[in-house]
Amino acid sequence: MWKGRFKADIDELVLEYTASIDVDREFAIFDIKGSIAHAKMLIKQGILTKEEGKKIIEGLKDIFKEIENGEFPWRWELEDVHLNIEMRLTELIGDIGKKLHTARSRNDQVALDFRLFVSSRLKFWKTALLRLIEVFLKRAQENIDVIMPGFTHLQPAQPISLAHHLLAYVQMFKRDVERIEDFLKRVEISPLGAAALAGTTYPIDPEFVGRELGLGGVFENSMDAVSDRDFVLEGLFAGSIIMMHLSRFCEEIIMWANPNFGFVLLPDEFATGSSIMPQKKNPDVAELMRGKTSRTFGNLITLLSLMKALPLAYNRDMQEDKPPFLDTDKIVSMSVVIMTKMLEKIEFNIENMNKALNKGYLNATELADYLVLKGIPFREAHHITGSLVAYAEQKHRYLEELKIDEFKEFSPLIEEDVYEVLDYKNAVSRRNALGGTGMESIKRQIKENINWLDKKTGGSV
Ligand code: ARG
Repeated sequence: MWKGRFKADIDELVLEYTASIDVDREFAIFDIKGSIAHAKMLIKQGILTKEEGKKIIEGLKDIFKEIENGEFPWRWELEDVHLNIEMRLTELIGDIGKKLHTARSRNDQVALDFRLFVSSRLKFWKTALLRLIEVFLKRAQENIDVIMPGFTHLQPAQPISLAHHLLAYVQMFKRDVERIEDFLKRVEISPLGAAALAGTTYPIDPEFVGRELGLGGVFENSMDAVSDRDFVLEGLFAGSIIMMHLSRFCEEIIMWANPNFGFVLLPDEFATGSSIMPQKKNPDVAELMRGKTSRTFGNLITLLSLMKALPLAYNRDMQEDKPPFLDTDKIVSMSVVIMTKMLEKIEFNIENMNKALNKGYLNATELADYLVLKGIPFREAHHITGSLVAYAEQKHRYLEELKIDEFKEFSPLIEEDVYEVLDYKNAVSRRNALGGTGMESIKRQIKENINWLDKKTGGSV
């Protein structure tokens, strides 16, 4: 493509070193869509004749079919997807094909292709996340009355409803959906027309190209348009947070599946056995998801490092921007879908969750609050309760098993009604203030989340 200036052929090893076809062929359909929009614009502006434009567009459509059918002759020696498609076009329709690249450079072309690709992948993530949220909501609805220990420092802290725990994840994934929607505004900008870096002298209409491709806007500065990769970074960041959220749930699944917790039973389809220990059921899927999360963080750092201190405008370094995103995309896309399927089938062991409530004096805060209601300052109530826990622990009994006389030795204000307060179910159901684990609060949360989901999906996920 640049033989005019060169006398010698490129070194074989250098060709291999510089080619990106293995990676950017993923962009082929977007490259063609972008080229068709570009060709239509060139016709409208009188830069190409109708006849020429028609031939080019038909040729591009034929190439589209070749690619779809796996018949496209990919040529590694042609460096990248853009040169492969352009060369094929000229093979199919003759020299007119060479006119497609008028008022365009590979620099704005690759930026456009990548934007279209990131946009389509982010939209897939969003759809998959909405489905995951739906399943979290369904499992929450089924488990409103299930009481389990809530943890801080991974120590038993206060009783909570299992639904409340699951609804916390709904909040995380809702933020992920909204983050994607926000990022898409900046991804869906057409850079076509920026040309190599300085813009073009042809009377182009970049807005027309943007509209043809369904993008929300066009570039404002040609140098920024060809050298900006923020939209990829934002995608990598969104993916990293999604994976971070998933990894937290994975960690809980891994712990909960341990027989010492025994809170969940993994579906057979999502666990593996051991080749040596016949009793084992390993949470490999959750472990791998937790493990793959680190790769998505690495990919974000890779691109940040790649872009750091790069002078304007396009630099070939930027060809290295694609592998990190493709890798993160594969991880995020698969992980969200797999988690959805796994969550649908996980069995919660309600009995073990209830049993665990007794380990750790989870109703101690209730007792302290009870004393406060009787007029004792909180700090003092905290102290009295602490002493009672120490006493009960020494006697190997739970708080609710202490006799009223024993309670009275610590505070004469404690009456028979204390036993109601110490009841775990009561402890949970009373927390109905905003966002609490009380039954009313949970039902409110579920309702609000269903409304949110309906708005996003129009009622169908
Ligand atoms: N394969 C290149 C990339 O991915 C396309 C742009 C090439 N531009 C250039 N001036 N060599 O970045």
